[in-house]
Amino acid sequence: MDKQILEIVLKDEIMQIMSLPVMSLIRETVRTENVRAYIIGGFVRDLILQRKSKDIDIVVEGSGIEIAEKVANKLNICVNIFKNFGTAMLKTDDIEIEFVGARKESYRMESRKPVVENGTLEDDQNRRDFTINTLAISLNYMDLGSITDPFNGVDDMAKKLIRTPLNPDMTFSDDPLRMMRAIRFATQLDFVISEETFEAIKRNAERISIISKERICEEINKIIMTNSPSSGFFLLEKSGLLKLIFPQLSLLRGVESKNGVKHKDNFEHTLQVLDNVAVKSDSLWLRWAALLHDIAKPATKKFDEHAGWTFHGHEFLGSKMIPGIFKQLRLPLNEKMKYVQKLVLLHLRPIVLAQEEVTDSAVRRLLFDAGDDIDDLMALCDADITSKNKKTVETYLSRFQLVRTKLKEIEEKDAIRNFQPPVSGEIIMKTYNIGPSREVGLIKNAIKEAILDGLIKNNYDEAFEFMKREAAKLGLTIDAS
Ligand code: CTP
Repeated sequence: MDKQILEIVLKDEIMQIMSLPVMSLIRETVRTENVRAYIIGGFVRDLILQRKSKDIDIVVEGSGIEIAEKVANKLNICVNIFKNFGTAMLKTDDIEIEFVGARKESYRMESRKPVVENGTLEDDQNRRDFTINTLAISLNYMDLGSITDPFNGVDDMAKKLIRTPLNPDMTFSDDPLRMMRAIRFATQLDFVISEETFEAIKRNAERISIISKERICEEINKIIMTNSPSSGFFLLEKSGLLKLIFPQLSLLRGVESKNGVKHKDNFEHTLQVLDNVAVKSDSLWLRWAALLHDIAKPATKKFDEHAGWTFHGHEFLGSKMIPGIFKQLRLPLNEKMKYVQKLVLLHLRPIVLAQEEVTDSAVRRLLFDAGDDIDDLMALCDADITSKNKKTVETYLSRFQLVRTKLKEIEEKDAIRNFQPPVSGEIIMKTYNIGPSREVGLIKNAIKEAILDGLIKNNYDEAFEFMKREAAKLGLTIDAS
């Protein structure tokens, strides 16, 4: 699109931004300081694509820090200065504004730390990652609101194209995180990566090793949170990045055949499950559980003459692999990890249940093990049915519905979800005048099992009577004294 037409189309939006009190102040400040400044990067891209954008980046042909300090002074607010990066950030009216001096950068082979020189807007645009991220809107009196688009970024947005402004080998070698960003933007925006740019990602993939695991993980999380995360993971795999950043996932790729019997491609299946979950839920951790639910399939794969391909115990091994994977990827080692472990461990249970007669005690046990995460587990199981055979899918989904109905009934009746033993260890010890011991554990466990099997109800009276019978079997008597 012609830049003048674009300026007319976006006139109202641009004027709205320019008239924000903080923007008026910035304009006034750059004018009196006699420097030029521009809104640049993601904010302009998102404005044109009509996406919500939270932060505004401003590039100043001069010192970004000085302008930020002057603006903050006038507003009587704090400014965060990052001297090492030559940037300053202030927050007002819920908008984060980051100021940076226009730079000319060149990077050294062994690190992402650039050698920085002051530059012009043009220099600064040259060093940016993708054409769609190079657009600038003037904050200057002479040409206020005019758009600078040196690499036809607007055309690329119309063509839904990700491409680097300069030679892609240079752009990626300068900052290899951009390879992940290219794939993340393509997935987020539903764009394609130009062939030349993608070939350069393949050539430079190994350079990802100089990027911190935390930043790589941020990009993986952003891919997972898109509407169709599978396309991002296919691109990561195709580019050669996946086996470097997440080898366990890459190992799921491929189909083996023996005696004419094939197993399904577990990579494709996993991504289908992830996409299915993404349609239903915005939870990052449920999406992680989907991505990892079959992670131990390669390690448990066996061929049996009668049964064909088997992956026995992949749910147990998978859940054991989670802490190592979380640590390796720098995901948090906290209750989120435990949640993912739990879902991976239990992901076959509702399926097994749906294949057999749905007994009350099996449902009670599932509810006991899943606790409050039962709904997420059921959502994961729904998503896990990826058969191409419509009839199979329908059969499973309707049996899951039956499991859900039973879950509801049992929950209403027995309150198993957040099971608390109706007779505690203290009560047992007090009743029999004994201290902490093996017997206390045995009795407590027997009470729990009896409730889960439906032999007694989940209440104090029935549990206390049951305790007496169990204690008697162990030779314990109530101390009458
Ligand atoms: N940029 C770059 N190379 C990077 C990171 C950022 O060239 N590795 C430039 C791009 O011009 C980008 C701008 O800096 O638009 C701001 O970066 P950032 O805030 O990280 O990204 P956004 O493009 O705003 O998008 P998002 O917030 O979704 O990451």
